[in-house]
Order: sequence, then C-alpha cells, then structure tokens
Amino acid sequence: MIQIKKKAICILILSACIAAGNKAFAQKQDINQKVEALLAKMTLEEKIGQLNQYNGDWEATGPVTKDVGNKLDEIKQGRVGAVLNIMGTEHCRTFQDAAMKSRLKIPLLFGQDVIHGYRITFPIPLAEASSWDMGAIEKAERIAGTEASASGINWTFAPMVDIARDPRWGRVMEGAGEDPYLGSLIAAARVKGFQGKGLGSTDAVMATAKHFAAYGAAIGGRDYNSVDMSPRTLWEVYLPPFKAALDAGVGTFMNSFNDLNGIPATGNSYLQRDILKGKWGFKGFVVSDWGSIGEMINHGYAKDNYEAAEEALKAGSDMDMESRSYINNLAKLVADKKISVNLIDDAVRRILKKKFELGLFDDPYRFINPEREKTSLNRPEYVDAARDMARKSIVLLKNENNLLPLSKNLKTIALIGPLAKAEKELKGFWSLDIDKNEEIISLMDGMQSHAGQTKLLYSQGCGITDTSRKGFDDAIAAAKKADVVIMAMGEAPDMTGEAKSKSNIHLPGVQEELIKEIKATGKPVIVLLMAGRPMIFNWTADNVPAILYTWWLGSQGGNAMADVLYGDYNPSGKLPITFPRSEGQIPIYYNHYNTGRPAQNDTDLFYKSAYIDLPNSPRYAFGYGLSYTNFEYKNIELSKSTPSMKDNDILSVSLMVQNTGKYAGEEVVQLYLRDMVSQPVRPVKELKDFKKILLQPGETRRITFNIRKDELSFYNDKLERIVQPGTFQIMIGSASSDIRLQKSFELTN
Ligand code: GLC
Repeated sequence: MIQIKKKAICILILSACIAAGNKAFAQKQDINQKVEALLAKMTLEEKIGQLNQYNGDWEATGPVTKDVGNKLDEIKQGRVGAVLNIMGTEHCRTFQDAAMKSRLKIPLLFGQDVIHGYRITFPIPLAEASSWDMGAIEKAERIAGTEASASGINWTFAPMVDIARDPRWGRVMEGAGEDPYLGSLIAAARVKGFQGKGLGSTDAVMATAKHFAAYGAAIGGRDYNSVDMSPRTLWEVYLPPFKAALDAGVGTFMNSFNDLNGIPATGNSYLQRDILKGKWGFKGFVVSDWGSIGEMINHGYAKDNYEAAEEALKAGSDMDMESRSYINNLAKLVADKKISVNLIDDAVRRILKKKFELGLFDDPYRFINPEREKTSLNRPEYVDAARDMARKSIVLLKNENNLLPLSKNLKTIALIGPLAKAEKELKGFWSLDIDKNEEIISLMDGMQSHAGQTKLLYSQGCGITDTSRKGFDDAIAAAKKADVVIMAMGEAPDMTGEAKSKSNIHLPGVQEELIKEIKATGKPVIVLLMAGRPMIFNWTADNVPAILYTWWLGSQGGNAMADVLYGDYNPSGKLPITFPRSEGQIPIYYNHYNTGRPAQNDTDLFYKSAYIDLPNSPRYAFGYGLSYTNFEYKNIELSKSTPSMKDNDILSVSLMVQNTGKYAGEEVVQLYLRDMVSQPVRPVKELKDFKKILLQPGETRRITFNIRKDELSFYNDKLERIVQPGTFQIMIGSASSDIRLQKSFELTN
C-alpha cells in the first residue's frame, strides 16, 4: 500500500513539474508572439527609439550632454525606450504618462543604480563581500529591490561583478574583491536578491551584470584606463562572475568604459556576441555604460558618432545610454546600407521581451504606486537586516591581549577621530539620498546606546585630509581621562567610487600621527578604519593592539560597530581582497603563480620574487579575519588518495573544527587547491569552497567538502577547459595565509 502511495506522490510531483514547465514555456512563447506582433507594427524610428536611454531629472551619473531638446516631448514621439535617475513614483508617473502618449504606448524602463540599498543603505558591496554570507547578501539586495520597485524603479544597474586586484581603483568598493570563486557566488546571490521571485513580480527589479568586461583590471588602477590581458586570464579570473550572474538569470548586462586589448568593450563583438550572446546564449539585452558608445571616438576606435553607432550595434550593444549615437545615426546607417534592420530588430526584441516579462505592457504603472511607496520603505525589519549585514561585514584585524570586546563596566571611554560622529559618510559611494531625514546611526550614537554607566568623551582630534594638528592636544587630554580610547579614522566616502582612483592609499592627512600621539599616552587604543578600499596604515598595524576594518557600513553602521565592540556580535568577517604594505606592491593578490624563484623568506637573494625594500607578504591576506574566540582545525581525512579522472565527484575531504575559546563565534573554513604540475602552470592556491559555521564555546564539528572534477579544471592556451592527472594539494585554513591542514592526492587517469 505504501509503495502505491509513494508512486502516486511521485507521479503527482512529476506532473506538477511538467505542468509548471509547460506553463513557463507557454508564457515564453506567448511573450515571443506579442513581441513579434508589436515589432511588426513599429516604424524604423520607433524601433530606434527603443534603443535610446536618457538620463532623468534627478542626478547625472556621468558627463551631461549639452543642448538637448525636451526629453518628455521625445518620449511622446516614441524616441526613448528607457530612462535612468528618476526618483520616486510621482516623477516616474510624469515620464510614463509621456510614453503613454506615444503612438504605440510602449512603456519605459526606469533604471537606477541601486547598488547597496535604496531607502535603507546597506554596507558597500566590498563590505558585504567580507561577510562571506550569501544568505545575508541576497537578503540585503532583496530589500533593496523591494524598496526600489515600490518607488517606480524596475531596473537596477547592479550587481557590479568586476574582479579587482588593485585597491588604487576607486570602484573596488562596488564589487566583491579579487577572487573569481567568491565573486561568482556573490554575483549570483545579488542577482537573486534583486530579481526575487522573478521578473513579473511587482517587488522584483531587473538586475544588470556589469561592467562587461575586465573593467577592474584598468592599468594602474586608474578608472576608465586601458586593460591588457591574456585571453586565459580573462576567462580564468574576470569572466566567471559574469557567467554566474547569467546562470542566476540576470536580465541585462552593461558593458564597460575600458578598451580590452585595444578594442573598447562597447564595440567588442568578441565579448558581446561571441561570448555573451553566442557561447553563453544570453537572451537579455546589453546596455552601454553612460556615453560609452560615443566615447569610442575618444578611444580612437570610431571617427564620429555615425561610425561609433555602427560599431556598437554590430558588436552587440543593444541600448545606448546617453550618447545619442543611436537616435541620431541608426536610421542613416540603414539608409546607407551600412547596417541591416535585422540588427536593430534583434536589439529591439531583446528590450521588448524584458518589458513584457516585467509586466509593463499589462500595466505600465505597476511599479508606480504612491500608496505602496509610502508603506514599503524603511520598515523595521529592513533596519534590522541592515544592522545584521553591517555587523557581519566588519573584519577584526587585530586584538592583542583580547582587548576586545569592551567591558560594560568601564568608567570612561574616549571616542576620538574625524569619523566618530560621521553619519551620511557611513553610506559610502553609490548611496541614494532618498530622504534627507533618513536615520543614520553614527558610531557615537551606537556607543551611547550601549555604554550604560560608562562616560563617553569625544574629541575630533584632526580632519580626514587636512594637516592641522591643532586638535591633537584636546584629543590627548580626552584620552588621558579615559580607561580605553576608541579612534574612528579613515578616508572620506568620496575617496572611493567612480572616478575616484588614488595613487596614495595611505590613511589620509595626519591621522596616523594622531594615532601615534594617542598611543603614546599609554592608554589601550582601539582603531576603527572606515573606507571603501584597502588602505595602508603600517604603523597602526604594527603598534595598535586592536583594529577593526569597518568599511562603509550604511544606515546602521554605528549600531553594528558598537555591537561588535561590546561583543554583542562576535566579528566573523574575512577580507575579500588583499591589503598591501605599499602601493609599490600593487597588484598583489593571493592566487598568483609560483614563478621560477619563489621567495622562501625575506632574505633569500636570487630567490625574491618581490622587493629588496619590503617583505614579500601583503599586510593582510585574502580571506584573513579574526574572531573573539579561536578555532582549532584537526583530523583531516580524504575519502580516497588516488581518485580517478573518470569520476565527476573526485573525493571528499573532512576535518574537525573546534571552538577553543570562550565566545560563540562563526568561522569561515576555507578550502584551497593547488595543481602541483600542469601545463600551463596553475596558481599556488585557489579558493574552491568554504563553509561559514557557528560554533559554541568548546563545540567541535566535523565538516566535509566534496571536490568535483570541474573544480580541478582550467583553461589551456587554446582556451579548452581541461583537467590533467597528477598531484594536487588540498589546503584548508582560516585565511589564504593561515593554512591549518594540508593533504595531497594523486589524480589518476
Ligand atoms: C556610470 C557607471 C555605471 C552606472 C551608470 C549609470 O558611469 O559607470 O556603473 O550604472 O553610469 O549611472
């Protein structure tokens, strides 16, 4: 009887899946038919209008085109398919009303850079990446997408998934750091967060994987600069997060400002047609970055906008953000038989499909509901999620003699530094000032809500960048009256972000001098560093007993910092990017090749693949971060020592992890692999898996990693994905620089 029941249940589930699959297929077909029917009615000008995107009436996020006509009139004429930077349902309604006056009433897309929050600001993406917590990251973007979609936005220009190995680049703050594996997981989590249950639900916004491609490898870390790299590096390091975003269902891609090996990404058919739309089969559309089509003139790749429009459309750029190259030249290019209407039709189809999927043809105002806008923003549960994400983003770099967490019984704490009372600064770059009254919790606010009977003194001490020392005496006096000093130091929030590359990434101004003076008082000093990039602070790193890297933590930053300082949350963050000792070390990253003369230590002559004036190692390595407790790794075991290439599941690796301290804490147990001998060579280690686990004091847990054959694969010089038999080293640790257990296995044919 039970067998019959089981069979019946299986049949029911199977038929439900088939029905669901059929429904999705039917919907897809239905949309395709609607797109074709609409396309057949469109004039060439109306088709070109769909490929045209204008900036709206809020803020410009790029160089503004002068002497433009009336955008609303152009929308009414069917010359615009999408707008960006329009804030709030009231403004969006004005623009959508204009679109509804056009002949075919094709609704507009409303795009916005909802990068790390809409009304509630979450930590900057590089901070979120430090949490290694995909659930928390997805939830943060889900909230951002919900708030944005309630405010008229149906398309976000996020996630930025550019791998970055150069902290001089200001946009390092916007991504997930240097590692393709971690970056791919985070790309997928962010896409799923923004798109939620899928395009068509009113709380989803269409996501964008950007900037395609290799923008983070700009030479010298200088924004917009050229990128020159081998195809293998492109495929091994920079493309994987884009593929992960595509596999997660991302609706659109945005190309990048840089040229790649001499061909601007916007006009790069290898990237946009061969890889994205060809090999990967991407069915969404590609939007140019702001003005990037017209900028091919500056690149020297096109002599004028006419030629730029031809190159961009042929290369697979479907929509023109703000360069006006398409709207002003495509009709002539068709008339001159330089491009076929088929190319335009393909781009229009891609855009219309997304508008149908978003439900905009069913109801062009489905994201423009003032009542929903009033009740959907800044909800208490969103505030809690922002605080949780912020706490998880903090990285404990140092904690000598367990100075932290703070005791609740301290009599006096001195809070010193230019960022101790910072509020708006905590939001970082790419935050949206939706409501000037948004409640942002400063470090001082957070400390006050935790301090109880402890007296809090405050002194600014110095500015962020100025060289004045006139505040030093007051700060020293405050320190001398305190039991513990907490210093809030760092960059200004506009020192990272777009067009914010810096040649000098040291802690700015005279801040480190102030830290020295405060340290000289003999009081215990805790330094919190706020920035959008890795900074250099060698004296502080060597001499201050406790250091927290707090990035820019968003609206709830002050509460999160205080939660960590008082131990209400045990810091669990791990660095997603290498911290150099000097700008001279850059680029410096963990997954490098061994070279023919690998440095064994800092003194070997002829064996220094580094500098004579600096240690070989970075200041802090990828994957590094401490806890208030300690974790012991032991008993590594392999399921087999000579696995065969014939298996897809190569082997499993298990180990025991114990919390040997007195605080409950989370540990990110990292698994790295090295292919010891291969042609071409492989990095000295590559992150292939990790598990973030919570252990109570004294608790021991066995964890198991399953290694699959594709994790051993790599591209050869013909860009074929291969696996070679031979010796592999498994390294498991608390950081790429802190390998606790290792074991080798022999992969056989
Ligand atoms: C900017 C950025 C891009 C952003 C776009 C719209 O120049 O490069 O990331 O989405 O323009 O603001």
